[in-house]
Amino acid sequence: MSKKLYIETLGCAMNTRDSEHMIAELHDKEDYDVTPNIDEADLILINTCSVREKPVSKLFSEIGVFNKKKKEGAKIGVCGCTASHLGDEVFKRAPEVNFVLGARNVSKITQAVRKDKFISTDIDYDESAYAFSEFRNNPYKAFINISIGCDKKCTYCIVPHTRGEEISIPADLIVNEARKAAQNGAKEIFLLGQNVNNYGRRFSMSTHEKMDFSDLLNRVSEVEGVERIRFTSPHPLHMDDKFLETFVNNPKVCKSMHMPLQSGSTSLLEKMKRGYTKEWFLNRALKLRALCPDVSISTDIIVGFPGESEADFQDTLDVMEQVKFEQIFSFKYSPRPLTKAAEFTDQVESEVASKRLQILQDKQEKILDEISKTRLNKEYMVYFEELRSNGMLAGKSDNNALVQIKGKEEWLGKTMRIKITNPKRLSLYGEVVF
Ligand code: 5AD
Ligand code: SF4
Repeated sequence: MSKKLYIETLGCAMNTRDSEHMIAELHDKEDYDVTPNIDEADLILINTCSVREKPVSKLFSEIGVFNKKKKEGAKIGVCGCTASHLGDEVFKRAPEVNFVLGARNVSKITQAVRKDKFISTDIDYDESAYAFSEFRNNPYKAFINISIGCDKKCTYCIVPHTRGEEISIPADLIVNEARKAAQNGAKEIFLLGQNVNNYGRRFSMSTHEKMDFSDLLNRVSEVEGVERIRFTSPHPLHMDDKFLETFVNNPKVCKSMHMPLQSGSTSLLEKMKRGYTKEWFLNRALKLRALCPDVSISTDIIVGFPGESEADFQDTLDVMEQVKFEQIFSFKYSPRPLTKAAEFTDQVESEVASKRLQILQDKQEKILDEISKTRLNKEYMVYFEELRSNGMLAGKSDNNALVQIKGKEEWLGKTMRIKITNPKRLSLYGEVVF
């Protein structure tokens, strides 16, 4: 009988993909199968995120709970970004943990489980060309890494300290993975990296052919069976005209763009070391809207960054007003160890930041109400990828709106024309146009 693996995944899509890689390696090489029941697991993995403080502080209480629930002899492994940044401090605070495996050390998972105690958190480790075993949570949509690490030095961000410097994965490996995924039925490819449109700046093999992210998008779009391509995250700084034009003109590239703004104030952007101004961001977003009227634009915004004045915050609201984002992920600034901003002496009071977050979210609700009204009776091509427990079939339009219909299971994995009959803020409800 196979051994059992219980895995919890926090954080971003990169972490989700890392978990898929660990599940696959453990299945193929160590005979583990995933279980949803912690009490029958032989191995418990927590794949952590450290981008904000909260999940990190919860980690140790969670380890305590898992330790009580686990069966005799079961191992506990802490992986991911918090493993990278805390290193052997994890053992000191939680001696019951058997191994600590950093975010860039995923390929060592099989070594880790064979030892009583193991640690590997080297952020210079290069696994960009490692041939991982295959496993995908969702057979309709294939996540594919195109780079590891991040070369930016955003002053609020811990990621360069947990995932190390940026290395692009050779295009041939990416295209092969897309081909395999498409042969197995995935019509949608989701390309992943911390900074995808910086692709091609550094490969681990210096002989690799020169290419940028636009070239990569075009190559992946030529793979037979691939119908849709999405990606995350691009950086507004690298949204040059070539990139915008490739995005708009390649029909397989889905028309939804994530443009992480962080702040609308040029002086705060400089303090964050984002490399662009309010004007540049607006220029790119509005150009994109002009080139592609159907595009949906999502963003990340931080409120309460050190030194954020009322005027800075108004700049953020102004960008929201001008761009009218279809989706915003908004966060209260959280000081992180190892980052420059944690040392800034002009931290914003927590209540002020909370109030701003509320104002921003209220404003976004109003914007979304306006946007969703315009969607009544519109028709979208929707790729159905999930049958929900309430019996609704869920999928995404080309421009990333969540669409739900009362449908049949055999429509999973199909792209269908849907007319929207009931648009809500977070989901559009509709029916098939035959
Ligand atoms: N505090 C709050 N939010 C942060 N993010 C990154 N670092 C921090 C931090 N220290 C947000 C950014 C990023 C998203 C993934 O998380 O908006 O784009
Ligand atoms: Fe969290 Fe960032 Fe690591 Fe993703 S890369 S898991 S968001 S800290």
